[in-house]
Amino acid sequence: MIRTELLTKKFGNERGIFDLGLEVPDGAIYGFVGHNGAGKTTAIKILCGLLKPDSGRAFIGDLEVKPSNTAKIKRMVGYMPDITGVYDQMSVWEFLDFYGAAFKIAPRERKRRIEEVLALAGASEMIDYQVASLSRGMRQKVGLAKTLIHDPAVLILDEPAGGLDPNARIEMRRAIAGLRKLGKTILLSSHILPELASICDVVGILNKGRLLAQGTVREISSRIQENLSIRLVVDSDPRQALALLGRVEGVENAVLADVNEINITFTSGREMAASLLRLLMENGVAVRWFAENEVDLENVFLNITGNASSGEETQK
Ligand SMILES: Nc1ncnc2c1ncn2[C@@H]1O[C@H](COP(=O)(O)OP(=O)(O)O)[C@@H](O)[C@H]1O
Ligand SMILES: [Mg+2]
Repeated sequence: MIRTELLTKKFGNERGIFDLGLEVPDGAIYGFVGHNGAGKTTAIKILCGLLKPDSGRAFIGDLEVKPSNTAKIKRMVGYMPDITGVYDQMSVWEFLDFYGAAFKIAPRERKRRIEEVLALAGASEMIDYQVASLSRGMRQKVGLAKTLIHDPAVLILDEPAGGLDPNARIEMRRAIAGLRKLGKTILLSSHILPELASICDVVGILNKGRLLAQGTVREISSRIQENLSIRLVVDSDPRQALALLGRVEGVENAVLADVNEINITFTSGREMAASLLRLLMENGVAVRWFAENEVDLENVFLNITGNASSGEETQK
């Protein structure tokens, strides 16, 4: 639904984006992750037709992003900038009504629409608030509502949780996750990776303007992670399970993590999990829980981008 081909925009030597090939499947929630200064906003602005690339192409659906398609792209895309411009001397209602009018939504339809998008953004109670009185978290919600007003198929949200306190972040995340049921394609950026893990289907990791990895979290991590880890909980004597596991070639480590809980790490690829489980069952171990440990997204990110400080700019 969103696609770029060799997209490049240079601001001097090592700044900008280089040969970006983003691919966001239809209906996916795509997490666009990278340190401050990685180039997320630059890529997003190009996708929204607000910045001209030096070379390469960008597409929203079948439409190429170029001046002659601007009007169509604006209809298709809801864009929430990293810094939402707000019109302080208005109520939330007036603010949304203004945007509804700009998209030529008929006045009667507009009223219904405003209520709908405020509900989607979790901001229904703010309808009569003055924009000037809103907290940053509230503003972001109203910004999200604005982004939805013309019912675009694609949402592009630049750091929607940026600058929010933990509670507001959770609420914003919940609102975005709720949009999934509308079938929209959503690209959202963040410099905080774990934040995206729970709601994204696909992640693209950007570092110094280059896309280092793209895919599901699991795909990305299995490429870089040599050790897989499994959590095993038994209802029988864990020492028996430990002894069995200790004899298997490829099992790097099997340690007691709790009274009846064992952590297994192994190097021989994911297929090995099934044979470990079979071995345990065949030897009479009462397995209550056997599951691959959730991938630690933070580690994946650090692994791919080198270390936390590389490419980071202290802009904030
Ligand atoms: N208009 C501009 N002129 C010069 N440099 C810019 C401009 N916009 C962005 N940059 C530089 O390009 C890089 C990427 O910026 P940006 O896309 O805003 O990153 P992010 O959104 O990931 O924090 C940074 O080094 C930034 O300083
Ligand atoms: Mg940015």
